[in-house]
Amino acid sequence: MNDYKNSFPLLQRELDGQPITYLDSASTTPKPKVVIDAVTRYYTEMGANVHRGVHPLGEASTAAYERARYSVAALIGALPSEIVFTRNATESFNLVAQGLALSLDDEVVFPASEHHSNYMPWRQVAKPVLVDIDDETVPRYSQLKERITKRTKLVTLAHVSNVNGVIAPVEEWVETAHAAGVPVMIDASQSVSHLPIDVKKIGCDFLAFSSHKLFGPSGVGILYVRRERFDSLKLYNVGGGMVAYNSEDRFEAREAPFRYEAGTPNIEGAIGLGAAIEMVRSIGMDKIAAHSRALGEMLVRELKPLSGARVLGASVAPERRVALCTLSLPVPSMTQANIARLLADSHAILVSGGFHCAHVLHHRAQLDGTLRASAHLFNDEADIERLASALRDLV
Ligand code: ALA
Repeated sequence: MNDYKNSFPLLQRELDGQPITYLDSASTTPKPKVVIDAVTRYYTEMGANVHRGVHPLGEASTAAYERARYSVAALIGALPSEIVFTRNATESFNLVAQGLALSLDDEVVFPASEHHSNYMPWRQVAKPVLVDIDDETVPRYSQLKERITKRTKLVTLAHVSNVNGVIAPVEEWVETAHAAGVPVMIDASQSVSHLPIDVKKIGCDFLAFSSHKLFGPSGVGILYVRRERFDSLKLYNVGGGMVAYNSEDRFEAREAPFRYEAGTPNIEGAIGLGAAIEMVRSIGMDKIAAHSRALGEMLVRELKPLSGARVLGASVAPERRVALCTLSLPVPSMTQANIARLLADSHAILVSGGFHCAHVLHHRAQLDGTLRASAHLFNDEADIERLASALRDLV
């Protein structure tokens, strides 16, 4: 698997004369050359706006942009007409939160472990109702049934937690919520590049992720909306590109998904994302998932024995985890972020340190920050051994 490292120009660079060990893919993935080339090709060969050009460059740009929509749809088992391009996963959540026209007495149910982007948008428009987490920060999934009331308007959860790396039982949650007539939104930001996803099999109503965690450019998000759910989604941004007709007394929006894509989109970003998706599909999502689970298991195995380490989700079976391991490591006079900095400065090992946009999880677990290592298809066992060895020396 580590042959893939050669496809990523960023991973060839050094820090202070040491080759970098990149273990921060949950934050953002490096971009392979095929993605960088696709972005460059857009600017050197097309460069026109989309859905407007009445010339060959405009047609080429539109075709490439819409081809990317097909690639996204094919990756998750959706129809291209169910895919909305947004700026990032955060905007996808905001679009649904604003679009559902909720009131502040309405309830939205989600685990206390959710990332800020799947938490803040709901508290702006409704009442968040939290599913508790256990001592390892894993949601008590069976609580969902008792959290759903007559006021529940939506259930949402991360397919894979960005903090503990645990894979959630999304199909069971969809079944429970749908039995109560409640739609479900899935945050696939941390799962889409690690696991095969089929939205029809999951049965969710909405699903969001970002391009930059899937080897694509930043500034592009995806919102999947089950076709019939578009009817319940009000317009979000309005302006050029989303309107078919505008007069002094009325306007007519274009059909979905275009009615949710006002303004000139991140054309090169979407095209780059299309190239990233073609890369992961040609490797095979099953193969990537097996590699991710194996590295996840090794991370827990190597980091759990460190003196005083508290590894989140450590008791969850390896088949229910991806290649992500978060821990708190007691080192006198050092915060977890200090430890991350030391790994970078002394060993060129890049990990995350802090709260990972999940303050409520950290409050509830009484953790003053954590250290997170997240691996991907270009990492191998030697990378994890290097991290474990550096941390062993430190403690
Ligand atoms: N959501 C990203 C993370 O978990 C930025 O680091």
